[in-house]
Amino acid sequence: MHEVSQKSSEIMEDYLLEQFKERGVILTQNLADNLINPVYKYDMETIYEITHAAKKQKDIKYIYVYDKTGKIIHDGTKDISLFNKNFDEISKTTARSKSLLIQFTADMLDVSTPIMLYDELLGGVRIGLSLSGMRSNVSNMTRQLGNISDKWKKRNLYAIIITALGLSVFGFVLAWLLGYSLIHPLIKLSKAVERVAKGDLSGKIEVKSRDELGDLAISFNKMTENLKKTTVSRNDLINEMKMREKMEEALLQSEKLKSIGTITAGISHEYNNILTIISGTAQLMEMDHKNDKKLAESLGTIKRATDDGAEISRMMYRFTKVDKGVSSLEVHQATDLLKQAIDFTMPRWKSMAQANGINYHLDQEDMKDAISILCNPTEIREVFINIINNALDAMPEGGRLSFRSWNKENAAFISISDSGKGMVEEVQRNIFDPFFTTKRPEGTGLGLSIVYGIITRHGGKIEVESNVGTGSTFTLLFPVTVNKETSIKRQEQEIINKDLHVLIVDDEEPISRILDKFFSRNGNKVKVVNNGADAIELVNREDFNLVLCDIAMPDVFGYDVIKELNRLKKIPKIGIITGWEEKLKPIDEEGLKVDFIIKKPFDFSILEKKINAVIDSRK
Ligand SMILES: Nc1ncnc2c1ncn2[C@@H]1O[C@H](COP(=O)(O)OP(=O)(O)OP(=O)(O)O)[C@@H](O)[C@H]1O
Ligand SMILES: [Mg+2]
Repeated sequence: MHEVSQKSSEIMEDYLLEQFKERGVILTQNLADNLINPVYKYDMETIYEITHAAKKQKDIKYIYVYDKTGKIIHDGTKDISLFNKNFDEISKTTARSKSLLIQFTADMLDVSTPIMLYDELLGGVRIGLSLSGMRSNVSNMTRQLGNISDKWKKRNLYAIIITALGLSVFGFVLAWLLGYSLIHPLIKLSKAVERVAKGDLSGKIEVKSRDELGDLAISFNKMTENLKKTTVSRNDLINEMKMREKMEEALLQSEKLKSIGTITAGISHEYNNILTIISGTAQLMEMDHKNDKKLAESLGTIKRATDDGAEISRMMYRFTKVDKGVSSLEVHQATDLLKQAIDFTMPRWKSMAQANGINYHLDQEDMKDAISILCNPTEIREVFINIINNALDAMPEGGRLSFRSWNKENAAFISISDSGKGMVEEVQRNIFDPFFTTKRPEGTGLGLSIVYGIITRHGGKIEVESNVGTGSTFTLLFPVTVNKETSIKRQEQEIINKDLHVLIVDDEEPISRILDKFFSRNGNKVKVVNNGADAIELVNREDFNLVLCDIAMPDVFGYDVIKELNRLKKIPKIGIITGWEEKLKPIDEEGLKVDFIIKKPFDFSILEKKINAVIDSRK
């Protein structure tokens, strides 16, 4: 009988230790997963929140988060009393280890797991789980088993004496029955313990007697109940961790967007400056070579591309600012826009491809010209360019690109097909999601999500059909517009010839040079300065009719120049030329007088219009 209780207690202890180990491993691994971001960013507040929350579990005695040298960076307390200390010698080993380490001390289970960002070891997390609760449970039950076994021995002895006294067979039967009534529940219990050891927590022992055996059965049932609870709470924990992971993913996504926002705000300024130079030079060349039709056509393409570039930087800005803004809509032939997109991507499918010995065949025969749509042309060109670029990406060895357009029941359709590698269903399902890409690291995965946004904003639809190995077809549906053609034509340029004395203030020399040329060629007197300080000095010495001023300049900001101009007795006409997308807040806030604002890159015709309007109005 003693062996039965001994064995049961051993099985119980082994089982509970296994459970403990498993729980410790899951806990540390989940903690390690959740700590990647905060440890990487050294975000102590989040590390505290995570470790502090985990420490609320009763049997967790310590949690240490350490760096890759083994120094503790957090211990789950507010003041981090162990900061920068080595917990023990083992810490150094665990810190260098890229795998899980489990060790038992007399009363503690100690588990540590590395915190890894891909292959990079950031540090680790180590927890101590107290074994005392579990041990006292086991010894309680062993004690009860012992008691019962003692009693059983006594009663058994009594039966033996009776037998020895040669009492009747009935005596034997009685003794046997007595023994059985005690042994049977114990066998049942022993079997139940073995079942639990195998992980089956469903069974309960029926409590029949109110003696020690009954108590033991109650304890056993309680134990399985508790085990069940820890298993459930383990599942809860995993679910919670999964939810956290999802939230972190979402956070990461929004952080990505935020950082893209910051980057775009910064680069769109630089980008617009460059576009201004390209566009300005193209426009000046156009004026100089009016009779060269071929050149004028190419310059027109360059001009349109720079306009689109500026619109895209605006779109990107709006995209990341959440404020989508309302883009201006015009009636255009969708097929014209498609042809322009084909022109824009020409370097990729023609010159660059030929240089690399790749051949693309473009099939445009099925493009009809009767599709008028109400749209933002830059956005629609952007849609086509993205789809064409993806198609070319899918045909690195060359292939066929086919374009079709047709009308059907008040809707216009455009399809773009390639003979590329196609997509499996899983990829097809995700292509419109932001950041989904199979082209890492080059691809951002934003192309088709922007396409999707533009098409739905235009009230259209986009569908994809694809077969692995044979290619893909993107079909776009647009609601047809019946409005008569109102496509905006570029205005005929009015030549400014007003004998103006113009001051140009821009730290970008190529831009000020282009503006200088533009005004000088029309007979105006032009002065150029490349910084705010010189501008302030000059306006106090000379009278100007018109000052064109950049805003973002080093040292002295454009605002200071404008302030100075506002103080002059004879205030010239003031135009701001800026590469920033943001509203020019300080101008409004300080009530500064400014005659017009023009965004880089600009069209000379629009600049002229603005200047004409303010110069004429004063006459
Ligand atoms: N014509 C196509 N053929 C095969 N796969 C395509 C095609 N078009 C899109 N895809 C798949 O859809 C994914 C998402 O496309 P999307 O344009 O959004 O991003 P990307 O092209 O990967 O990156 P980016 O546009 O920033 O360069 C691609 O990575 C590719 O797997
Ligand atoms: Mg793409």
